[in-house]
Amino acid sequence: MAYENVILEQVEPGIYRLTINRPKALNALNAETLDEIEAALREVEADPGARALLVTGAGDKAFVAGADISQMRSLTAAEAKAFALKGQKVFRRLEDLPVPVIAVVNGYCLGGGCELAMACDWIVASEKAVFGQPEVNLGVTPGFGGTQRLTRIVGKARAMELVTTGRQVKAAEAKEIGLVNHVVPADALMDEALAQARTVASKGPVAVRLAKEAVQRGQDLDLDNACVLESDVFGLCFATEDQKEGMAAFLEKRKAAFQGR
Ligand code: CAA
Repeated sequence: MAYENVILEQVEPGIYRLTINRPKALNALNAETLDEIEAALREVEADPGARALLVTGAGDKAFVAGADISQMRSLTAAEAKAFALKGQKVFRRLEDLPVPVIAVVNGYCLGGGCELAMACDWIVASEKAVFGQPEVNLGVTPGFGGTQRLTRIVGKARAMELVTTGRQVKAAEAKEIGLVNHVVPADALMDEALAQARTVASKGPVAVRLAKEAVQRGQDLDLDNACVLESDVFGLCFATEDQKEGMAAFLEKRKAAFQGR
């Protein structure tokens, strides 16, 4: 499918890259871009050979600098609520993508951009990246899940400070508070993210999908039910050829040749 505001590529077998591509507006998310992100996610979901997705922003200045302020400016209350629900729905779909999603953050990662990165499974950032929820500067709150995901990721006190002051944090601090997994020099960013995606892609594909499902769905369950979910997916692994191959390869001291079934 042809897109205007995003680029979806399969950079290597099974490894997709989604680039938010409005560099003149620092990749700000308007309604059309959200629709295109959703359509791109549908393409990745439909590919049983998909192994991982990288999400990044075009240009070297921004990942995404937020929801599009020029489009939001004249929204009514009802329209603004609908816009928030639209962003939340798309980001939920991203979070629920059956394969791991890595946010590759190359610059400003603010407002809706930080919310997009937090809906990914983990974040790899360049040393130049800047994170924040600056919506209060505009007289609004975050609307694409920021008040909720940031709290779950960094804890209530840190989230409260960032959301109510609008303070922006550099990559090193973002790593220190657990928002970012890895910080690397700007020119090494995509290679590092690709290396991580390749590692994921080299593992048992069914196990990777089930592991993501267990972590993703389990985090909102109580521990007893979450562990039932885990034992269910663990059992399911033993119905796959990948489990037989993976364990045989270990015992035969050779590399596993996973088939993804
Ligand atoms: N929406 C629309 N356009 C944006 C934008 C945004 N979120 N962020 C940047 N742009 C545009 C600018 O208007 C500018 O356009 P023109 O060239 O046509 O004037 C262009 O991108 C470049 O931006 P700047 O000239 O401002 O670049 P800078 O280097 O001086 O500053 C910045 C960079 C600090 C990131 C600054 O652009 C900025 O503060 N952007 C807004 C950040 C923000 O408030 N994000 C939250 C948005 S609200 C939200 O996201 C709500 C939600 O949760 C759903």
